[in-house]
Amino acid sequence: MSHANNFSLLIFITTTLLLIIQALPPVKANYNIVSYGAKSDGQSDSSEPLSSAWQAACTSTGSSTIYIPSGTFMLKPVTLNGPCKSNKIIIQIDGTLVAPSSYTASEQWIMFEHVDGVSVYGGTINGQGQTLWSCKSSNHDCPAGATSLKFSNSKNIMISGLTSMNSELYHIVINGCEGVQVQGVKISAPGNSPNTDGIHVQMSTDVTITGTGIKTGDDCVSIGPGTTNLWIERVTCGPGHGISIGSLGKEDEEEGVQNVTVKNTVFTGSQNGLRIKTWGKPSDGFVKGVVFEHALMQNVQNPIIIDQNYCPNNHGCPNHSSGVKISGVTYNDIRGSSATQVAVNFDCSPSNPCSGIELEDIKLTYGGNKPAESSCENVDGTASGFVVPPSCL
Ligand SMILES: *[C@@H]1O[C@H](CO)[C@@H](O)[C@H](O)[C@H]1NC(C)=O
Ligand SMILES: *[C@@H]1O[C@H](CO)[C@@H](O)[C@H](O)[C@H]1NC(C)=O
Repeated sequence: MSHANNFSLLIFITTTLLLIIQALPPVKANYNIVSYGAKSDGQSDSSEPLSSAWQAACTSTGSSTIYIPSGTFMLKPVTLNGPCKSNKIIIQIDGTLVAPSSYTASEQWIMFEHVDGVSVYGGTINGQGQTLWSCKSSNHDCPAGATSLKFSNSKNIMISGLTSMNSELYHIVINGCEGVQVQGVKISAPGNSPNTDGIHVQMSTDVTITGTGIKTGDDCVSIGPGTTNLWIERVTCGPGHGISIGSLGKEDEEEGVQNVTVKNTVFTGSQNGLRIKTWGKPSDGFVKGVVFEHALMQNVQNPIIIDQNYCPNNHGCPNHSSGVKISGVTYNDIRGSSATQVAVNFDCSPSNPCSGIELEDIKLTYGGNKPAESSCENVDGTASGFVVPPSCL
């Protein structure tokens, strides 16, 4: 074989290798926070190691995984910012992240902002809210507290298999996001812990919450202004204040809530079941297109409630008439027991009556077997199928 032939063979092999390498998927990088100096002693602050691992993942081009191994890692408040080069970052948590045991003025503990394609899998986050809760109950001057996990102005987010306990304030907040899946999450805090809402969604679209169990001291799920295309399925609630659309209408100008589905839910000993709540004051907000179906109520104080008269301390609500227009709300197959006599309560706004309220197949008793009642103020709609307590629509 001549030298010329050898040379063309070499070129051929090199070119082929290059083509093969280009065709392979990008290298998957793994960033273990322990390699960045995190210690699972429950005391050393892991915020620097986590931020460094985040920087590495965020600036890498392929998909990458940030790994938090088993063990307890203490973490001070941290913000993980995008935009990132990578649009697939997985945060795999096998261990537990604990917040410092004393509170700070920080408004969130673990915060993601401007990210696209971030998934959080597994693990436990413990907000250690007890110190702040006792400050609040002793009436001292205390900060509002930190949300445990917040995604802000982000898209294509997944939170799967995470356990969140004892947040200082809300457990999980989805704000200004598009395309968020929350699945198989467990949330727990004592029934008397203040403002520890389970999942709060606002200014967001295409959010789904499925297969999630929530026991907490405030709303299990709260749905704020600007929420559209929200899907909630297979969620259990209690203790807690129920699944609530609201409070809405606090501001004069506010985005509405539209297209919300809540199905296959179980409420146990909660303050509310399915609630819509607005301030009794002027606002251009609205709620439209809501379906509540297949809910089981077990000893729930207000299984079905629309309350348009919210005005804590009766302050700043000139004529107690809410400007929020509520229309197109269906309640289908809601059954079980109410802890109070009024199991269905529609207290709508005199200036903006509720319209298009539909009740279908409702079977609610007071206690085990006493008859329950319905109450209607400023509401228009229809009832069909088996409806007990008898409809007042
Ligand atoms: C309502 O939201 C669901 C997701 O929750 C979505 O599949 C559906 O297309 C939306 N409907 C409209 C009319 O936008
Ligand atoms: C309540 O007050 C607002 C302005 O403060 C007014 O626009 C509205 O018409 C009032 N509604 C009723 C029923 O008096």
